[in-house]
Amino acid sequence: MIKLNENYNKLPGNYLFTEIGRQVNAYQQANPDKRIIRLGIGDVTKPLTGKVISSLKEVVLDLEKNVHGYGPEQGYDFLRNKIAENDFRSKGVNIADDEIFVSTGAKEDTANFQELFSSDIKIAVPDPVYPVYVDSNVMAGRGGVYKGGRYTDFVYLECNQENNFIPELPKQPVDLIYLCFPNNPTGQVATKDELKKWVDYARANKALILFDAAYEAFIREDNIPHSIFEIEGARECAVEFRSLSKTAGFTGTRLSYTIIPKELVVYDNDGKAYELHKLWLRRQTTKFNGTAYLIQKGAEVVFTPEGKAEVDATINYYLENARIIKEGITKLGISSTGGINSPYVWLKTPANLSSWDFFHKLLNEVQVVGTPGAGFGLCGEGYFRLSAFGEKSNVEEAIDRLVKLKF
Ligand code: MLT
Repeated sequence: MIKLNENYNKLPGNYLFTEIGRQVNAYQQANPDKRIIRLGIGDVTKPLTGKVISSLKEVVLDLEKNVHGYGPEQGYDFLRNKIAENDFRSKGVNIADDEIFVSTGAKEDTANFQELFSSDIKIAVPDPVYPVYVDSNVMAGRGGVYKGGRYTDFVYLECNQENNFIPELPKQPVDLIYLCFPNNPTGQVATKDELKKWVDYARANKALILFDAAYEAFIREDNIPHSIFEIEGARECAVEFRSLSKTAGFTGTRLSYTIIPKELVVYDNDGKAYELHKLWLRRQTTKFNGTAYLIQKGAEVVFTPEGKAEVDATINYYLENARIIKEGITKLGISSTGGINSPYVWLKTPANLSSWDFFHKLLNEVQVVGTPGAGFGLCGEGYFRLSAFGEKSNVEEAIDRLVKLKF
């Protein structure tokens, strides 16, 4: 008899963004004349840039004549070199080409990475948090029992107004720590000193940090680290995830990269150390046949001076949206974090509405979609996330519509 992985029974019914999509589609079907403005899931609205499109066209013509079969599972050297050079070495951060693993999404890599670890490790996750980190560990049996909105076996690092949405070090020992800066969903950023605390903790406890830097390109303020590897000692205790999704518009074409320094080790029950880099290579070569050659060629030009200028312009466009959202809700007397070095504005729901009540109110009364904070964890209750990835005219209209809400 084929038997179920019963850990799946411990998950909430739907993945957060699937559930939102379901409710929004149902509303649209019932109200076909209403024009919905979507500021929910962080999906881009600007197309791939001119440089990327030109490169893709050229490669398509090349594919007519030349075969590009299975490529290296960890990515082509031409792209790994550009990434290591432009994202890291040119900024004084020591990362070798072969420490870059090209992949199809920070979502899948952050979800899959936990496979390398024993099922009984202790996981620490911020609350609120990108649900992928939690759900993937629940699927792997690390969650324990789901009680009162939380899993009994996880250590939750509460982020709230009191600690300015920056997680504090856990009071009990943990083995694997998920951090994301600029943060999804709160938009908060961490200073070097804050990240150093985590690096010191991880080194002292032989723990590992999984650092999601998918939004690093949105950092505009000086002195905010773009990479955890800017912190001394991080090569011994951290893996970093990056993505072209939100920067160069690859949400649909898929391209991300994961950085695994060769110093990183994990231990067996006898305390023997194993190189994490080798283990991930073993995993990827077994389960993954690489990101498409075409897409890697498209990604390569993102790292040219013209490509970088295009990305910069795109990010400025989204950050201007974020500014409009933040300014608009501030005028309405709604407090928020994020939206400065981040495409997400994390706001306190007005009139003490629950996150889902506010979601339904916005959808039903003004047809604006956002993401209920409660979907990111217990600490997200009473909060709401607006994404700045919409078109500017829609973002402006969404703010105009919010003004009309009555409480
Ligand atoms: C989000 O809206 O949180 C993101 O788009 C989700 C993702 O990147 O997978």
